[in-house]
Amino acid sequence: MKTIFDLETVYLDDENGAVVLIDQTLLPNEIKYLHLTTQPEIRQSIRELCVRGAPAIGIAAAYGAYLGVKNSSVEEFDDFYEVFKAVKQYLASARPTAMNLFWALDKMERCLLCNKEKPIDVIIDALRFQADEIKAEDIRTNKAIGEFGLSLLKMNDGILTHCNAGSLATGKYGTATAPIYLGQERGYNLRVFADETRPLLQGARLTTFELAAAGVDVTLICDNMAATVMKKGWIQAVFVGCDRVAANGDTANKIGTAGVAILAKEYGIPFYVCAPTSTIDMMTVNGEGIEIEERNPEEIYKKWYLKPMAPEQGVKFFNPAFDVTDAKYITGIITEFGIARPPYGQSLAEIMDIKHKAGEGGKGRVE
Ligand code: MRU
Repeated sequence: MKTIFDLETVYLDDENGAVVLIDQTLLPNEIKYLHLTTQPEIRQSIRELCVRGAPAIGIAAAYGAYLGVKNSSVEEFDDFYEVFKAVKQYLASARPTAMNLFWALDKMERCLLCNKEKPIDVIIDALRFQADEIKAEDIRTNKAIGEFGLSLLKMNDGILTHCNAGSLATGKYGTATAPIYLGQERGYNLRVFADETRPLLQGARLTTFELAAAGVDVTLICDNMAATVMKKGWIQAVFVGCDRVAANGDTANKIGTAGVAILAKEYGIPFYVCAPTSTIDMMTVNGEGIEIEERNPEEIYKKWYLKPMAPEQGVKFFNPAFDVTDAKYITGIITEFGIARPPYGQSLAEIMDIKHKAGEGGKGRVE
């Protein structure tokens, strides 16, 4: 790779009927692309985090939905729609928390319905175009989040991040990393502290990998070291991504995020959530309505070790993949349409209103 941005997280190989994605379970030790042609392979790659990060999951699912109907032999629209609905339901069941998965699949369905009067082959072309557009929109969105996010930073600032909300989690640039990459381009001399992010180590394996490859000053810490670096005065802002933002601003993100937010409040450090509007779920009133994925407990005590690091008998395990940060700990939610501030019930509604009025690529800013 020439730069980190040459590593495409996910793309379509239409000629060979494949969703191609970098297998993130192997990073940072091996860069290997998977070529997935069947629906079970595509669903499994999402389920097992070969592709992960809310926006990247949405993009993979959109391409998966297109491939799932591309070769269907039906001729009537109603039959075609039935095939699509089955594919959609199957892919949507891969993971429950990231809003972007459902958002992208809904967008594909709307595209199909808008073209229902057209011949099936034209609808299929429209679906491919729509999936490409979901990816292109994500890249534009991240650039805009980068600009808004960087407006909150000063030269030489220290930033703490959790999990990986980077280029690998999106079409490109990332959400929480977009301001960092932009700052790097503009000579801000930012210093990033990456939480390792147990149990799956997205911070250690992915965030440090991509930031170091881009030449960013990055320091890896264990999750339980966040208070120490905050207390030392090394952190001027926390930037994280999100998997779902409820209408009141409560935010689901990788497990451990809520603790970081509470610490940041204690130390007077602003805590920002970088959120494409595709992650905002105005139908969910607050964090209690967000389904939190629970994963295999072996991720906690077995996955990275030669021998189990806990007795397997007589011990109970609990492995939620996400937690919800209460809106009261969030200083601002940075979207592609501006920065929402508390009270989020109002500011997020305004952001969504700007989005709907502007349509694709619209302008506008809420502060
Ligand atoms: O389980 P993961 O690795 O998919 O979790 C990812 C995160 O929690 C990210 O912070 C979130 O999806 C935002 S990615 C821009």
